Amino acid sequence: MVDVILGLQWGDEGKGKIVDYFASQYDIIARFQGGPNAGHTLYVGDKKIVLHQIPSGVFHEQTVNLIGNGVVLDPVTLLKEAEKVAAFGIDLKKNLFISERTHLILPTHRALDKAAELAKGESKIGSTLKGIGPAYMDKTGRNGLRVGDLLHKSFTQQYIKLRLKHQTLLDNFNFNEDISVWEEEFFDAIEFLKSLNIVNGEYFLNNKIGEGKKVLAEGAQGSMLDIDFGTFPFVTSSNTISAGVCNGLGVAPQKIREVIGVSKAYCTRVGGGPFPTELEDETGEKLRKVGNEFGATTGRPRRCGWMDLVALHYACMLNGCTQIVMTKADVLDAFEELQVCTSYQIDGKPTNEIPFQMTHSKIEPVYQSFKGWNTDSSFIKDPADLPAEMKAYVAFLNQSLPCDVTYISNGPGRDQLIKI
Ligand code: GDP
Ligand code: IMO
Ligand code: MG
Repeated sequence: MVDVILGLQWGDEGKGKIVDYFASQYDIIARFQGGPNAGHTLYVGDKKIVLHQIPSGVFHEQTVNLIGNGVVLDPVTLLKEAEKVAAFGIDLKKNLFISERTHLILPTHRALDKAAELAKGESKIGSTLKGIGPAYMDKTGRNGLRVGDLLHKSFTQQYIKLRLKHQTLLDNFNFNEDISVWEEEFFDAIEFLKSLNIVNGEYFLNNKIGEGKKVLAEGAQGSMLDIDFGTFPFVTSSNTISAGVCNGLGVAPQKIREVIGVSKAYCTRVGGGPFPTELEDETGEKLRKVGNEFGATTGRPRRCGWMDLVALHYACMLNGCTQIVMTKADVLDAFEELQVCTSYQIDGKPTNEIPFQMTHSKIEPVYQSFKGWNTDSSFIKDPADLPAEMKAYVAFLNQSLPCDVTYISNGPGRDQLIKI
């Protein structure tokens, strides 16, 4: 069977920490979509680690990690990450498996990402510039190169052919930066990649499931960045919702058991695009400061705002969430009063639904206020000790959403998670 942990907002909900927390209960941790645009933070002892390509179960010796076919893989990032985890005694040759169907991010994909964003000017998406969009375009355009292709002699020829195609596009963008260093790094890194366990991911996983092994699928980004259901076009290029697990790993829907959605106790977003509850004032600034809301991949300041129940309800519906982990509850410790958006007014009309187009209409959030708890909650271990105001906040979420908050995260540390 397969359980899923994924983000319910615009990414950075704290998925890395939560996957790391639950990893010891699983045999396999598998990434099913996205690529190095992800930045998943976890702590090993007091050491902070940010993972971009490798699943967040990598620090648990008994778990195997799989990069699924739905991921786009940058060999250069993978090599850097391998060196990072090697410092902790982790050898990826032992506990990382990569699907041969996983598409590769080429240096020209990164160049195309940059060129396309520059060309968009004011309306740019705010991409992480890791080459995600162009790599998925080559996948759906049936041009892309896959990890399995690396094992064939014709790889360099295939690479040159695709590179030429990309060069024409880059010329159209008038992009003439020298990417030869990126190419050198790429060719060094693919030698390392070839030395890892490259497998048929779908048989690998289904055979393990057949043997009764437990799989945890680790989502990247968040539901509101989903290519189909997110705030298009300000989204990423993959299906971030639970449906993405099936095509990103090759497992059937009946195999999926729990869908654990991760949501912050408030909202953040990095990059462009609509964000109805955004606070562009000192309250937003305070959330950013207290929550240390700066991107784990790009270091950009994250936009901050209040909890949005319209978006969260939508995400729970799309994912079929069975439970919610609410992270960063401790960040709200310092607030006298909290707001939760319960519905939107769009062009003067009330609604509880996410509209087709969030950029063209004026969306005004309707708020309900809650009393803050004004206590340092980060030391709490026992749910009985949670402040009454926090319990009331969570009770309201439970009553408004299709499933309940089952865990509260009250700090970045591995042990700062309370089962309620
Ligand atoms: P991910 O992309 O969903 O894995 O999340 P990120 O790692 O990008 O961002 C989450 C940030 O919040 C990281 O810096 C985490 O260390 C931190 N974090 C996670 N959970 C908590 C929490 O409950 N409280 C606080 N204060 N920080 C947290
Ligand atoms: P994790 O897994 C937050 C955002 C980018 C941009 C948009 C498109 O750490 O939660 P892309 O690079 O995919 O072309 O960028 O999506 N974005 C993320 N925001 N967390 C992420 O991942 C993100 N991955 C992409 O900022 O707005
Ligand atoms: Mg992140």
